[in-house]
Amino acid sequence: MRGLLIKGLLIAGVAVAGDLEFPENWSGMNKVEKGAIMPGNPLYGIVPGYHETYMDETAYAHFTKYVADLKKGKTPPAFPKGSTVVFVNFKDKGKTPRVVLVMQKTGDPKDEGGWKWEGFLLPAKKRIVKNAAKDCANCHYKGKKDWDGLFLPHVKK
Ligand code: HEC
Repeated sequence: MRGLLIKGLLIAGVAVAGDLEFPENWSGMNKVEKGAIMPGNPLYGIVPGYHETYMDETAYAHFTKYVADLKKGKTPPAFPKGSTVVFVNFKDKGKTPRVVLVMQKTGDPKDEGGWKWEGFLLPAKKRIVKNAAKDCANCHYKGKKDWDGLFLPHVKK
């Protein structure tokens, strides 16, 4: 029932209270990584081609404090509440954003890994996540290479 209601609201283009909001200021956040998703990568179906990863101040402060530990093979502490991490997939070499994936730390055990997960298809900002566990978190928590659900070991720092 709730699912139907939410679906109805989404079709109407209305955000449901408590939903993760589109990060309007993503380009003003701290860029931590860029790269390309090539054919054969399981992510290619959602976000093919060039991308950039950004963090808000809360996530970035935590990241800069502990990334050296991560590089040494230690698992740093989980990200603090409010941390926002944004993955922007572009149609071309960084000019036109196509899909924006967002993880926002709530610490709420009801959210997968204590993160809220959402994806927005531009330019309409259409929400693409129906089931955060299946659509997003399963993959983010699959291996041991993550840091609190984030894939950061390859980030240069
Ligand atoms: C098939 C596995 C997979 C699925 C499904 C997936 N991701 Fe990811 N995600 C990754 C990988 C791998 C990266 C790192 C890519 C890179 O930096 O090259 C990533 C990166 C990200 C990042 C940047 C932070 C980080 O972990 O590096 C965010 C935010 C993100 N994904 C959110 C989402 C959301 C929201 C969904 C659901 C719509 C989702 N992802 C679905 C594998 C996945």
